Amino acid sequence: MSADPLDRRIKLANLPTPIHEFDFDDVRFRMKRDDLTGVETSGNKIRKLEYLLADAKRKGASVVLTTGGEQSNHARATVFAAASQGLRTKLFLWGSDRARSEGNLFLDRVMGAEIAYLNKKDFFNADAILAEECERLTRAGEAPYVAPAGGSSPVGALGYVRFVEELGDQLGGKAPSGIFAACGSGGTAAGLLVGSALAGWRTKIFAVNVLMDATSVRDYILDLAEQTLALLAIRRKIDPSRLEVVDGYSEEGYKSIAPEKLALIKRFARSSGVLFDPTYAGKAFYAYWERFIRGAEKRRPLFLHTGGLFGAFAKRQEYLDA
Ligand SMILES: Cc1ncc(COP(=O)(O)O)c(C=O)c1O
Repeated sequence: MSADPLDRRIKLANLPTPIHEFDFDDVRFRMKRDDLTGVETSGNKIRKLEYLLADAKRKGASVVLTTGGEQSNHARATVFAAASQGLRTKLFLWGSDRARSEGNLFLDRVMGAEIAYLNKKDFFNADAILAEECERLTRAGEAPYVAPAGGSSPVGALGYVRFVEELGDQLGGKAPSGIFAACGSGGTAAGLLVGSALAGWRTKIFAVNVLMDATSVRDYILDLAEQTLALLAIRRKIDPSRLEVVDGYSEEGYKSIAPEKLALIKRFARSSGVLFDPTYAGKAFYAYWERFIRGAEKRRPLFLHTGGLFGAFAKRQEYLDA
């Protein structure tokens, strides 16, 4: 087995994902299509799962535990990726068993994932709940493995450290001025910060916050980036000025989306053939459009499409009405 943590992965995603150019409202911009990492395993989460499931297998796991919202893309991608590796999944989802089986939840159920539902308070205390379940399963003779919420641990963040290598090859080594992406649990942004630092890039990482408060998410990303460097045994400091948390684009709540954002999502889809989700990439794209397409800022970062389309099925009527 390789000693380099970046080599300890299972290949699950279709890589490299393409970079496409779009003209929208007379503005040209580039988008890296991580929504195309796979079908059932689509989106950014699968890059993290390549490392997390390699870790799970190395530790002899029999069942993977993880947590997220009831429309969690990470949970759905974990269920499919774990199945491909002969592993079962138990999910702890923020929601209720009365929720209609739509989108990601529908897929989790079809796949036979064991599901426990958490209220919002318990969801924000999920670490303790997962630890308790781990102990119970271990006593019952199982070998549980916890994949953190959103796959965002130092091991998971390696997926986006490696992403920077892939992007560098695609751009002929030329660093982009910025990378602009949705941010939930912070692992994508943390991995991008570490990857850019290792590549010697001065790229700005824009993290569009959809879930936490802006100060917590910033501290969390920077801390996770430092932990990821430690895992790689690299003594280096992350320059905090490389990270910009873009806040205020999820004021309607994590599980909701404002009609004007859906209207933009539809208008872009009809002009490009690319449909965003309501929770992550859709909100990030709205922020991108305000600043770099309708807005005056000229140094346009690369837009990273992190996937999430199945979430749109849980908001059918809102998409139709917008
Ligand atoms: C589709 C999608 N985009 C973006 C994100 C945010 O990524 P991260 O959790 O690494 O911040 C997530 C998950 O949280 C996601 O499911």
